[in-house]
Amino acid sequence: MNNLLIGVIGAGQMGSGIAAVCTLHGYRVILVDPAKSALNKAKDTISQNLSKLSASTDALSFHTDLNSLSTADLVIEAIPENLELKHALYAKISPIVQPDAIIATNTSSFPISELANHIITPQQFIGMHFMNPVLKMELVEVIPGHLTDKTTLAAALTFIASIKKSAVVTKDQSGFIVNRLLIPMINQAFIALENGLASKEDIDKAMEKGASFPMGPLKLADYIGIDTCLAIMKTLDAAHPKAGYAPAPLLQTYVDRNALGRKTKQGVYSY
Ligand code: NAI
Repeated sequence: MNNLLIGVIGAGQMGSGIAAVCTLHGYRVILVDPAKSALNKAKDTISQNLSKLSASTDALSFHTDLNSLSTADLVIEAIPENLELKHALYAKISPIVQPDAIIATNTSSFPISELANHIITPQQFIGMHFMNPVLKMELVEVIPGHLTDKTTLAAALTFIASIKKSAVVTKDQSGFIVNRLLIPMINQAFIALENGLASKEDIDKAMEKGASFPMGPLKLADYIGIDTCLAIMKTLDAAHPKAGYAPAPLLQTYVDRNALGRKTKQGVYSY
């Protein structure tokens, strides 16, 4: 059993996946979310997923109170992709965690150096961008900010290897590698759908059968969450103006209807 105590904040798709992977690899894990409903859903999903792997959830606990993170060695934040929300959370947790704790963010698009503004110990703050679904996808992008210590980077890489994931280290530029390439394709799929180029099924089929994608871009958007895709697109557009990252209006239309994808049971497709 590994001795580190891992805190995960946000029990949504990513936080529950990260908590499950850490539990699977022998860590004690505290999962925190102010929403009891999110914690209950995460409890069910994690139990189901870990029981399929014959793993126990005994080392995992669920909390609504951020103070439960006071003894964590590594805290991984996975709350919505909203800068103000993340800054407000860091201002709250920074004084709670142990002085030598590492704080990592699962942000999809915000520069780490910008997020670090509200962290008391920015040298121990780093980006750790997991992929969805976390139990299945091997990659974690690791992003040191300009104040991140070398020892923090080394500790992050050791941790990622210990949970049997594969890391790439990227510069601190909005979108990192995966989303800088992937999200524009999803955006183009929405533009194509809006323009009536083909049906949603055929747009997805074209990329599945024609480019060997395991899942077409519209299905993938539903999987990621259309709100999250839109938030990432807006951040990419602001960070790289005139580089063709402007979000398709159709993304906003889905978000306005709360048709966010699988998590609301309605997105481009119905679930
Ligand atoms: P989600 O919407 O599924 O879950 C977010 C959770 O955070 C919810 O359970 C919510 O109750 C909780 N939350 C909201 N405010 C909170 C606060 N102040 N303190 C604690 N918990 C709070 O979102 P998802 O998809 O899990 O995304 C989380 C982060 O991971 C975002 O930064 C996103 O960009 C990133 N990400 C998402 C991926 C995806 O495919 N959805 C892939 C990789 C990264």
